[in-house]
Amino acid sequence: MKVSVFRKEHFNSAHRLYNKDWDEETNARVFGKCSNPNYHGHNYDIIVKVTGEIDSRTGYVIDMKELSTLIKEEILQAFDHKNLNLDTEEFKDLIPTAENIAVVSYNKLRKRLDEKFDLKIKLYETERNFVEYPVS
Ligand code: NI
Repeated sequence: MKVSVFRKEHFNSAHRLYNKDWDEETNARVFGKCSNPNYHGHNYDIIVKVTGEIDSRTGYVIDMKELSTLIKEEILQAFDHKNLNLDTEEFKDLIPTAENIAVVSYNKLRKRLDEKFDLKIKLYETERNFVEYPVS
């Protein structure tokens, strides 16, 4: 009997959407205010969905304390109160869109999570803009 459990965490990061191969004008046209040269911040919510069998010994799919610690170590320590473009290796050569943040977050967590679990990430950049990875 498979069940999905969800853990929501929050982080604040600055970023700028900028393609190095384009001039400033093209970046401004494509990315609008998100390409502002002096960066801007978002309050991100990340929802981590883990699906697996209920462990008959614990009644848990996964210990939520362990999941919370994992997200803190892999995502929050890397991204919270950071400038994603300047302060992180992950986005040195990758545009820090919500899409790419979700994929990077998935890959970081996937490495640490037992392969018996399915994993899905939902990332809110604003209340109204959010992305999901992987797609069903
Ligand atoms: Ni932005």
